[in-house]
Amino acid sequence: MEKQILALQIAHILGEDYQRDWVQQQIETPKQPNHGDLAFPCFPLAKTLKKSPHLIAEEISSHLKHPIFKEVQTVGGYINIFLDQKFVAEHTLKQFYQDPEAYGAHEFGKGKTVVLDMSAPNIAKPFSMGHLRSTVIGNALANLAQKCGYETVKINYIGDYGTQFGKLLAAYLKWGEEESLKQKPIKELTRVYVKFHHASKEDPSLIEEGREWFKKLENNDEEAVTLWKWFKAVSLEEFEKIYKLLGITFDLVRGEAYYNDKMDGTIDMLREKGLLEKSDGAQVVRLDEEALPPCLIRKSNGTTIYATRDLTAALDRKQTYDFDEALYVVGHEQTLHFQQIKHVLKKAEFSWADQLKHISFGMMLQDGKKMSTRQGKTVLLEQALQEAISQAAKNIKEKNPDLKNAQKVAEQVGVGAVIFHDLKHDRRNDVEFSLEDMLTFEGHTAPYIQYTYARTVSLLEKGNFDHKHPVTDVQAEAAWPLIKTIRLFPEVIEKAYQEYDPSKLARHLLDVARHFNKFYAHTKVVGSEEEQALLSLIYAVNYQLKDGLSILGIQAPENM
Ligand code: ARG
Repeated sequence: MEKQILALQIAHILGEDYQRDWVQQQIETPKQPNHGDLAFPCFPLAKTLKKSPHLIAEEISSHLKHPIFKEVQTVGGYINIFLDQKFVAEHTLKQFYQDPEAYGAHEFGKGKTVVLDMSAPNIAKPFSMGHLRSTVIGNALANLAQKCGYETVKINYIGDYGTQFGKLLAAYLKWGEEESLKQKPIKELTRVYVKFHHASKEDPSLIEEGREWFKKLENNDEEAVTLWKWFKAVSLEEFEKIYKLLGITFDLVRGEAYYNDKMDGTIDMLREKGLLEKSDGAQVVRLDEEALPPCLIRKSNGTTIYATRDLTAALDRKQTYDFDEALYVVGHEQTLHFQQIKHVLKKAEFSWADQLKHISFGMMLQDGKKMSTRQGKTVLLEQALQEAISQAAKNIKEKNPDLKNAQKVAEQVGVGAVIFHDLKHDRRNDVEFSLEDMLTFEGHTAPYIQYTYARTVSLLEKGNFDHKHPVTDVQAEAAWPLIKTIRLFPEVIEKAYQEYDPSKLARHLLDVARHFNKFYAHTKVVGSEEEQALLSLIYAVNYQLKDGLSILGIQAPENM
């Protein structure tokens, strides 16, 4: 509210040349309390107004007037505004208590649908760190979208097709062991696949064998299809364990192979629109004007590829869900692929092609190197999650040996730690995987926030707080930084979704937790004169921590 008021006034003072939106974007929330609660830097205006930023600041501030602006100062080229704390505090809590669940929610997504293509592991291969990133980032974005009013459709687009399955079939029939496949399917399939890979270097006839099996699969040969279906079923079962640990579900689990018999329509459409061209016997769509390499649609041997399936899937999803946005949460390395998909659709004159967005992310590193899932070096994700859980159990035992439900809490803390560690970084950066960093109670971690949440729970209990009867006029000055922080929640949610950046919310929750702990370290709550007002504030903190964590896909235990 205060930002809008300030922006409106400044835009008015500046006159027609300056839009309110632009002004509002310039407004900052200073980290240092002596710089005020809001600040407007006048530097960007100096050139056009041909005056010094300081002079501009003086001129604007002499016109600023509103009961909510308690004091206006100019320092250098900045205008610093100090707000009426009592007014804002009461306004914040009143807004929250009007409808706690709706606090931070928006309506700009109402009536719109977002489809998220996320997780998408490949069958017969380990669930990689990249797939974990896609899963947790996609899930957080879906939750953010919902908070902004959108309908969401979470699709797990399983990698279950491609020529490598011909090799896998050949390899399994040569060396596979049924019992091992039942026990540890992915391990066994990886074993025979790697063996095939090595053996084919010595004996190139194996490559031909693999090709034959892929052909059989494409032609619906019974043996090939039965085996492939079995590989898929056992792989999905293993992935399901990970989703269960993460507490993540999908609206649709659909493999690439689903589109196998639907691609002819796509290819015909591209041909009719005059976009298909021959190139070395293959069919491609040229993207010269976009300065991109041609998009391969059908290989010279007649087989279709990844891109053709993605084009077909996009058309199908548009028809099924009539989405307003389609987010593909997939690593950086596929940037070119998604550019090609979008531009092929654009050339085919689908006006919605721009609704496709590649939400890319960096790699998960260990000791500065990409975490490999290949040969021997396998870092199995499930193992990493289990490790996080047992570490969390150990930490909890040290801190709170009598805790009830310790195992369940350890799960919430361990898994939460892994998810938060991923989400607190700007998704575009690489992330170093470090259990130690994820799990400390004192750092920028989920356990720190969860622990803070548990403190608020016990405090509210101790004070017998009843959230049906809040007292909203908080007087204590020490509470101001905390109130100012929780007040940012609606804005944080909006930005986090609009920039597809869950780290904004993750960092906000760290701020809330930090300000609460600082406040609580110096302020007596239970038994104080202002007890009920302070508890009313603490309940708002408690609610926001839980709500925010749940948007990130993290649980908040009541005790820990
Ligand atoms: N399964 C693919 C991989 O692991 C990712 C699929 C991403 N989604 C898509 N629509 N192409 O590389």
